[in-house]
Amino acid sequence: MVLFSLAIGLAPLLATAQLSGSVGPTTSFSTKSNHKVCNVLDYGSVADNLTDVGPAISSAWNECKEGGIVYIPSGDYAVETWVTLLAAAAHTTDFELFSSTSKGAVQGFGYEFHAKGSLSGARILRLADVSGFSVHDLALVDAPAFHFSLDTCSNGEVYNMAIRGGDSGGLNGIDVWSNNIWIHDVEVTNKGECVTVKAMAMPTPSTSTRNGAVCPKVDGDGVQLNNITTRNWKGTESNGAQRGPIKVSCANGAPCTDLTIEDFAMWVESGDKQTYVCHSAYGSGACLRDEDKHASYSTTVAVTAAPSGYSAATMASDLSSAFGTDSPIPIPAIPTSFYPGVTPYGALAGARSSSA
Ligand SMILES: *[C@@H]1O[C@H](CO)[C@@H](O)[C@H](O)[C@H]1NC(C)=O
Ligand SMILES: *[C@@H]1O[C@H](CO)[C@@H](O)[C@H](O)[C@H]1NC(C)=O
Repeated sequence: MVLFSLAIGLAPLLATAQLSGSVGPTTSFSTKSNHKVCNVLDYGSVADNLTDVGPAISSAWNECKEGGIVYIPSGDYAVETWVTLLAAAAHTTDFELFSSTSKGAVQGFGYEFHAKGSLSGARILRLADVSGFSVHDLALVDAPAFHFSLDTCSNGEVYNMAIRGGDSGGLNGIDVWSNNIWIHDVEVTNKGECVTVKAMAMPTPSTSTRNGAVCPKVDGDGVQLNNITTRNWKGTESNGAQRGPIKVSCANGAPCTDLTIEDFAMWVESGDKQTYVCHSAYGSGACLRDEDKHASYSTTVAVTAAPSGYSAATMASDLSSAFGTDSPIPIPAIPTSFYPGVTPYGALAGARSSSA
């Protein structure tokens, strides 16, 4: 079953500690839905898992883009044409994409591409130049390439999502190249990056993830990352000698500062050694250097016993084996906890309201 509602519209929200400003849509869902509802079934769509829903979404969007809800009722829809939604202005603001039942999913059937050796297909979802938005309560499954990318966006929140990809590198979960984005409570199962933050001007600490990986990618000396805390990472990595659990690699021309790695206890699934690598990164914890002067350096620390506090708690939805790349990947239920013993910041949308 697929159901998702899409909202754009016409109000100011929470500021979060580690962000540089408010995130999320600026108008409530109810205000938008009281304003106008554009149901894709009124624009030629049929929930028969055959008729292309793309043109109907575009038409519904055009009718509601000045404010309202684009509504996709419960059912299975096929998407054949890629849907590009452009607001009246050059960019979109005040946008919310979510499944009100938390059961909505986009199945990318990426295995059809991967089985033929291609890893360069489409992304399932891309937001570009969108500000004041949220994406939540959706599952994204088996993307031909990346599952979700955000570029040149700002003031966004991404949460309560499940992302499942094929068992290959390059099939990333969430790629972020944006400002002031809060990503939390997202389950990613894949073999590429889970959440990756790419180079863009980030003058302030602007991206925070919980229970995900932040992998700063820095070229030249144009980008500086600072004031990032990594806390309470517990679990295992498959081969810590070959690919250790900590690698903080910053540009010599722009060393990272004020980093903190604490309560970190990961250990190998096989072997008896793991490495921590730090490159021009300053702060406290692991191999970070705690100095006022920020000269270039590179260090690799070999760790030969499990860190104190190490545990690898399991969760009900843990998988016993990876998905391959040549058969369909089932749509997961969005979990109600994304880390052992941790309650998400917000309940699933499907638990908050019983009506679609
Ligand atoms: C780091 O971020 C925290 C949380 O936003 C903020 O309170 C603190 O002032 C920042 N520290 C520096 C050195 O910018
Ligand atoms: C929808 O169609 C696709 C492609 O033919 C098929 O693989 C999938 O199983 C169908 N979904 C349902 C729920 O029937």
